[in-house]
Amino acid sequence: MSDYHIPVLLSEAIQGLQIRTEGTYVDCTFGGGGHSKAILERLGPEGKLIAFDQDQDASANVPADDRVLFVPQNFRHLSRFLRLHKVGPVDGILADLGVSSHQFDEGERGFSTRFEGALDMRMDQRQTLTAASVLTTYGEQELHKLFERYGEVTNAKTLAKRIVEARKLVALETISGFMQAVSNVVKGNPKKYFAQVFQALRIEVNDEMGVLKELLEQIPAALAPGGRVAFITFHSLEDRLVKNFFREGTFEDQPADDNPFEHRKHRSGLSVITRKPILPTEEEMKVNPRSRSAKLRIAEKL
Ligand SMILES: C[S@@+](CC[C@H](N)C(=O)[O-])C[C@H]1O[C@@H](n2cnc3c(N)ncnc32)[C@H](O)[C@@H]1O
Repeated sequence: MSDYHIPVLLSEAIQGLQIRTEGTYVDCTFGGGGHSKAILERLGPEGKLIAFDQDQDASANVPADDRVLFVPQNFRHLSRFLRLHKVGPVDGILADLGVSSHQFDEGERGFSTRFEGALDMRMDQRQTLTAASVLTTYGEQELHKLFERYGEVTNAKTLAKRIVEARKLVALETISGFMQAVSNVVKGNPKKYFAQVFQALRIEVNDEMGVLKELLEQIPAALAPGGRVAFITFHSLEDRLVKNFFREGTFEDQPADDNPFEHRKHRSGLSVITRKPILPTEEEMKVNPRSRSAKLRIAEKL
């Protein structure tokens, strides 16, 4: 399992969920099952775990355990599938966002600049939109916006222009072909530059911001009073959505001079447990460098 993915902020997340032995828990991002395993270890025979993952590869990691129900779907459909399986309000929900090491390290999945392969980047192999189709079909403006917004690429406009020029001459279908086609607009350290470009494409292909918002909006109703939610994020765009939603029940930053007499607290129906996010220890970052950018936030249903 650790070849598939090393769970990040494992003990912190599990502790934050305050698992009750007879409770029902949801792991929205099963992956290699590291967090799920720790939840199961704390559940008694009456406990239940509903695990979502939209990647078909993850299903191979599901343990033979009667307490587990695996849902091979996007977590944006959380409430729908809980209803379908007649699961009432749950005691805890965990989401460990982004891609797994398995997805990142399998060259043919197209997530990493380290390998040659098709520009795919789909977490769910059933969907049709791929990174290659984004690069081939999106307009220059759309490309500009997505590289700026999701990758903070400093010359997003120039990159978008270059892509639109290049695709008239070559098919932008492979990792190396794409990197070569835009090599003359790379700014700064190429490794860092392409990491930002690839992050932006991945977020777009998997609609990561859209699905995160949809999931967050379903959390208050899906939790039983006193139930806990733990989210692990890996970049500031995700963390801001989680932070704002837990605090305010909205996704926008609230102005600091908002009327102090207006009772905004608990608009989300949640009470924030972590005023500041929990970060990995130095030791965890040393052992697992992929944990470096992780942030854990926990809230409780009122
Ligand atoms: C960071 S990994 C989770 C690793 C897991 N916690 C573990 O310990 O192995 C994220 C996983 O969530 C899945 N995932 C990401 N977004 C998803 C979504 N919107 N719906 C369902 N699964 C998703 C990915 O396919 C990936 O397997």
